[in-house]
Amino acid sequence: MCGIVGYVGHRQAYPYLIEGLRKLEYRGYDSAGIALHSQQQLLISKTAGKVAALEELTKTIDLSAKTGIGHTRWATHGVPSDHNAHPHRSQNGKLALVHNGIIENYATIKEELLKKGYTFKSDTDSEVLLNFIEDIKTNNACTLEEAIRIALKRITGAYVILVLDEDSPNTIIAARKGSPLVIGIGNGEHFLGSDASPMLGHTKEVVYINDYELAIIKPDELILKNLGNDIVTPFVQKLDMELASIEKAGYPHFMLKEIFEQPKAIQDCLRGRLDSTTHQITLSGLEKVKDKLLAAHRIIIVACGTSWHAALLAEYWIEELCRVPVEVEYASEFRYRNPIVGPDDLIIAISQSGETADTLVALENAKQHGATIFGVVNVVGSSIARLSDSGIYTHAGPEIGVASTKAFTTQLAALLLFAIKLAQYKQKIDTATSDTLINELQAVPDKVQEILNSQLEKIKSIAHKYVDAKDFLYLGRGYNFPIALEGALKLKEISYIHAEGYPAAEMKHGPIALVDENLPVLFIATKDKIQEKIISNMQEIKARSGQLIALVSTDDTFVSSMADDSIEIPEAHEIIAPILSTIPLQLLAYYIGIARGCDVDKPRNLAKSVTVE
Ligand code: F6R
Repeated sequence: MCGIVGYVGHRQAYPYLIEGLRKLEYRGYDSAGIALHSQQQLLISKTAGKVAALEELTKTIDLSAKTGIGHTRWATHGVPSDHNAHPHRSQNGKLALVHNGIIENYATIKEELLKKGYTFKSDTDSEVLLNFIEDIKTNNACTLEEAIRIALKRITGAYVILVLDEDSPNTIIAARKGSPLVIGIGNGEHFLGSDASPMLGHTKEVVYINDYELAIIKPDELILKNLGNDIVTPFVQKLDMELASIEKAGYPHFMLKEIFEQPKAIQDCLRGRLDSTTHQITLSGLEKVKDKLLAAHRIIIVACGTSWHAALLAEYWIEELCRVPVEVEYASEFRYRNPIVGPDDLIIAISQSGETADTLVALENAKQHGATIFGVVNVVGSSIARLSDSGIYTHAGPEIGVASTKAFTTQLAALLLFAIKLAQYKQKIDTATSDTLINELQAVPDKVQEILNSQLEKIKSIAHKYVDAKDFLYLGRGYNFPIALEGALKLKEISYIHAEGYPAAEMKHGPIALVDENLPVLFIATKDKIQEKIISNMQEIKARSGQLIALVSTDDTFVSSMADDSIEIPEAHEIIAPILSTIPLQLLAYYIGIARGCDVDKPRNLAKSVTVE
């Protein structure tokens, strides 16, 4: 949420800043800005709108500056506007700041500053923080670094800040708590970003800044300190990401590219973890917490959004295969409801970004109560990955489209590996069943490819047929219920059509009142133990003239003949089939979204990485 970049070195700062902001735009895109330290002056350009608007605005600016910071915003305090865009300039004009996060006690601090005669040009908490720093610096006649340290001890909330001082050329001061910051190390230059994507192609050496750390960054020097002013040794890591992975590669949208990347992404997730000949699963992360897991009387899974849907399916899988009770929690609820958690609990955290604020804080709370944290995370080195005692990386590769696609299916692949392995540890699964599931899991990438090859045109035509729908219902039962929820979420976030996911049998307890000849109702009706039940639910909708779209197993002519439109899913074990059923639902949302002229990669009001609560 909000993307920030910075550069200090021997080259012009502007190209890195603008290119970096473009790469981070998925984190927020309602306004953008840069501050350049140029000839003893701070030049600030900022505007409401996307990074393209900033580029337009800065077409003729002086590009000689070799130090600068930039920001792309997802509004929290104050509407998207030129004034509320970052960077902010302090009252005396000497400091500039970009901020990602929320300062919770900004109102009290603002009150104090107003009494001292400060005035504010924006409605943001960020400008309050900046003037607070300026006030401390002036009153204590101290360095900017010292003033920041004092200010940060007073504020509550989450932040990454980058600050420029007109009187200190070639220097950026950065600090973090709760929001991410990566520093790339170059030759006589440093690159800063909310994630590593802006620095790809510039450096492979990065330092992930930890909470309560402050960095003083110059072209040839990176000094890390904690808020107690002690020096901290930077931990330099190698970046394992390629530039091509964050480009569109000929696809019109990242979302479509990422949908099509799923066969490879799932393969990457399984690679080295599944042995096709011995049928062995190797999960070193699981091995590490094996004793805890075997002793645990229950597992709690904490996540948000799409990741929460993966959690729900994992609950069905783990309970079925391992016979351990599982509780699935929205992180935002869990963190505030005084949950009963202790040293005997194993918490699984699911997060694509590894930075979602609610999930992160929920885990911090659980950890303080002694729980063991197992992370299922995509972004390597992210905050949740680092907080976890152990875990599995999903290896989906960078996901840029704001709506989650390949991150979800790789989470499912990783969670199913987890469930099968735990069932084996607990001796709750016989060899024949585990061999079947392992074989079927291995076949998933090919079956996903088959759907992409064979169903694309049909899905496009279904999308065009229902493009003007006002509402949509997605129904599924058992393992398919979480997929119904995910299908509905995908449609609403990408196309702005109101959509609801429901357990198919629950429909009779309310939502059926919505059904008429204008309501498309999508059923996940692939072959499984309860297919007959779902067929009855389809009949109930048909009897009320609803329009039926069905996901059916290949050649299931009986079910497809009941529906107005059907999409075929290759036959698969009922535990595996939901992973496959996800694919057409992503494509349907995508094609409806583009037919309605929506910006599918950057849906309104959304941001990829929700680092504020
Ligand atoms: C929806 C979507 C969001 C995220 C949610 C959690 O397509 O992407 O619902 O799933 O914000 O994000 P992570 O997984 O990064 O914790």
